[in-house]
Amino acid sequence: MKRIIQLAFLVLLLPALCQGEENTQPRVGETHSVIASLSAELQQLFSREMLELQKAMMAIVPLYVAGKLDDIAIIAAQMESSYVLKQALSESQMHELHAKLPDAFIEQDQQFHYLAGMLGHVASRGKTELVSFYISKLGESCVACHTAYATNRFPDLSSKRQAGHSH
Ligand code: HEC
Repeated sequence: MKRIIQLAFLVLLLPALCQGEENTQPRVGETHSVIASLSAELQQLFSREMLELQKAMMAIVPLYVAGKLDDIAIIAAQMESSYVLKQALSESQMHELHAKLPDAFIEQDQQFHYLAGMLGHVASRGKTELVSFYISKLGESCVACHTAYATNRFPDLSSKRQAGHSH
């Protein structure tokens, strides 16, 4: 079961990353982004995926407080399998992603997919307290990956990590 979840996850984020390797325009202020080394097209896909994740996270809390756990289960399943990237990437692109991405990034992505899978699992069983637990774990996994790989995009994460350093 975990395996399946992990595989599903790879399909999600990784696909976006791989689509091409020519043309790596560094971005302004980039520091810890793996995304910057990807083609513009893949970066765009990745960004779309992230925005979908954000929408999903924002949808979840109102559903939770209204007791609509079945709807959360549906959203969690979408997060787990990823909407955008999955559709956009070929198998060879997937391979490329695996080759290009740092192992630690892939682990973060796996962790995220695992947690999305768990959220779906407990939501579909009506376990309210555990739903709350996994919502918060999911949020932590967003922050963990952004802190490691997206401080260019979310500079506040890096200033918190490196205490006292801000502009
Ligand atoms: C495995 C790593 C990873 C995980 C997990 C992750 N992100 Fe991201 N996210 C990134 C990276 C890297 C970027 C920065 C991309 C860039 O350099 O522009 C990013 C960017 C974003 C953006 C900005 C997108 C844009 O272009 O405007 C949003 C919003 C976002 N993430 C939301 C989320 C949410 C919500 C979650 C959790 C549900 C999440 N992310 C989980 C790696 C991750």
